Amino acid sequence: MKRERMYINGGWVDSVRGAYLPVYDPSTEEVIAEVPDAGAQDVDGAVQAARAAFDNGDWSNTTAQERGRILFRLAERVRKESAMLAELEARNCGKPIVEAEYDIADAATCLEYYGGLATKVMGHVNPVPDNALSLSLREPMGVAGQIIPWNYPLLMAAWKLAPAIAAGCTCVLKPAEQTPLTVLEFAKWFCDAGLPRGVVNVVTGFGETVGAPIVQHPDVDKVAFTGSAAVGKQIMKMAADTVKRVTLELGGKSPNVFFADSDFEAAIDGALFAVFINQGEVCSAGSRILVERSIYPKFLEALAEKSKRIKLGPPLERETKMGPLVSKEQHERVCAYIEVGKKEAKLASGGGCPPSLQRGYYVEPTIFYDVDNNARIAREEIFGPVAAVIPFANEAEAIRIANDTPYGLAAAVWSRDIFKAFRVVKALRAGIVWVNHMQPTYVEAPWGGYKQSGFGRELGPWGIEEYLETKQVYINLNEQPIGWY
Ligand code: NAI
Ligand code: MG
Repeated sequence: MKRERMYINGGWVDSVRGAYLPVYDPSTEEVIAEVPDAGAQDVDGAVQAARAAFDNGDWSNTTAQERGRILFRLAERVRKESAMLAELEARNCGKPIVEAEYDIADAATCLEYYGGLATKVMGHVNPVPDNALSLSLREPMGVAGQIIPWNYPLLMAAWKLAPAIAAGCTCVLKPAEQTPLTVLEFAKWFCDAGLPRGVVNVVTGFGETVGAPIVQHPDVDKVAFTGSAAVGKQIMKMAADTVKRVTLELGGKSPNVFFADSDFEAAIDGALFAVFINQGEVCSAGSRILVERSIYPKFLEALAEKSKRIKLGPPLERETKMGPLVSKEQHERVCAYIEVGKKEAKLASGGGCPPSLQRGYYVEPTIFYDVDNNARIAREEIFGPVAAVIPFANEAEAIRIANDTPYGLAAAVWSRDIFKAFRVVKALRAGIVWVNHMQPTYVEAPWGGYKQSGFGRELGPWGIEEYLETKQVYINLNEQPIGWY
């Protein structure tokens, strides 16, 4: 078993109190590594390093070109080591290796995108009257505290670090306690890529002991968080004391709406893909499947039938389409929701742990139907392979049910009628809406939620905006005294 260290101020260190936490392979339930179980003192060291790196000028004075090149070098390294990273990601998260390969490639693409964008940040000349020049300068926000989840570990690290580095911020990143391994591998290349010490620090540990101190630290200027709504709400409160800038991505209960005129085969595939990809551990999972009544029985039957053919198995086998859930805790949480579902609705398929897989945190793809939209399994984020199928009578009812949720991250609509599809797109209150597909995600396009799914946007030019402040500069061109007195 490997004992890892964390990366603070350009060095590899243990936690101050010398504690470690175990990291598991969820397919075998075995401990595969240990990482520092850090605390507030370690956070303070990391924040001081990030603060110093920001304030001493070495980093703030790097040119955008240099920061871009650092990101390109990191991307190149990720691509070169992608096989190793994908295998480690699959082992640590339980996700199928084929999906992990996409994640690693996407992480590299994100680094490249922001490497290019670093040199495209531009200010503005404000058309003020008088003999003066008024400018808006775009400046880095300062020290960014970044807290990420366990479902896409390296990809989420890239979504957070790449725009921050491009903007000229310095970072204290906390990976999820369940999945720190690929981020620690990535950190091994920071120095080689040219990142000065202190610019990016990685602190491992739990939310209460590492995450909260990051959010509360007075020298952190901005917090970017992806995770549960409950923690997101706490973070907003904690950040208020020091008026930190905050961006939150808090998942959802996203509707995937199927009209009777949609392509039937594509619809069945799309519904399964949207909710069972990555074992359903996806913030934008299409976990509420809304189906028009006229096709409801046929749709349900085909959906349940095809879901039984989804191959569960060890993450490293290439035919595997669903691996185990990330942890014992998540397995228990999801299984508890399945029991709730059995009381609230009817079970079409799945509903348990596969008998052939004795070890590992596996859960079958599970489909409930005739679900009332007020049921818990239709309102609460389960974050596992559990779908709630809900019938609707017409377009108006589909929109009403789809929007009847505290969340608003994502949604999808399936129809061959472009008038209807676009009307529904406009009516849906969600930050990302797909038509005749669900889940494709691109670094060039904005990502983030409406309502209680959070605020702020990641990716694209929107992503770097969240790490920039605007400074208004007034330059007097009139050499005479004001002449007021
Ligand atoms: P979580 O929200 O507790 O964890 C996400 C990150 O926040 C982790 O790095 C964690 O250490 C950190 N964290 C936890 N408590 C914190 C605190 N008080 N202050 C600062 N940071 C803190 O999510 P968890 O417990 O792993 O999963 C619970 C549920 O959250 C899932 O079932 C799912 O519904 C949701 N979730 C949503 C995600 C998304 O992508 N939107 C990702 C992960 C979980
Ligand atoms: Mg938690």
